[in-house]
Amino acid sequence: MNNFNFIAPFYDRLARLVFGSSIEDATNFYLGEIKENSDVLFLGGGTGRVLLAMPVCKSITYLEKSGRMILRAKTKKVDARIEFVEDDFLKFHSQRSYDIVICPFFLDCFNDEHLANAIGQINTLVKKDGKLLVTDFQSTNGNWLIRFMHLFFRAFASLESKKLKNIHHFILQNRFETEKEEFFHKNMIFSRVYRNL
Ligand SMILES: C[S@@+](CC[C@H](N)C(=O)[O-])C[C@H]1O[C@@H](n2cnc3c(N)ncnc32)[C@H](O)[C@@H]1O
Repeated sequence: MNNFNFIAPFYDRLARLVFGSSIEDATNFYLGEIKENSDVLFLGGGTGRVLLAMPVCKSITYLEKSGRMILRAKTKKVDARIEFVEDDFLKFHSQRSYDIVICPFFLDCFNDEHLANAIGQINTLVKKDGKLLVTDFQSTNGNWLIRFMHLFFRAFASLESKKLKNIHHFILQNRFETEKEEFFHKNMIFSRVYRNL
């Protein structure tokens, strides 16, 4: 499930075609939270477009399941020590903890059970008082567009998720509190900073 290899070469163009600059604007909106001494973990960062907007930081761990997405991300220049990890996050183990974990349109890939597992696991990887930055889709009147995207990615990327979920609700159940939030594309997209309690 969730195999983005086939779609990797045209993913960014497709996202821009459907959502204009909103995906990029929303993903980049809170990157200012990253400080020079931050250890950052990216989950499902895709082609690494977001790396181009990164402020200086101490280290980046870039975890991605798709090898073809990682190949593209490796071509992006960043001002930090960066480690690329090709792995399924649901099987990922690490002794490290991070100041900031960033999930750009990553959590909506999972079904309910795996979403709960993923957020529980993220909680163990974020330092106390560390931040979780999430950008993703949320339910609005424009749901048909998101439903179409789900159908499309189920067909071309074996997307595991069958429907849009209330990701915010799942996160609040896992010892995170909201610090900041902003909405994009007629409220179809949210970007939030959560603090690990
Ligand atoms: C919808 S795409 C978003 C890509 C990028 N963050 C963006 O916003 O353009 C989801 C990404 O999450 C990755 N992904 C999905 N399930 C994963 C998993 N279990 N472990 C690691 N990465 C995963 C996919 O390979 C894909 O690159």
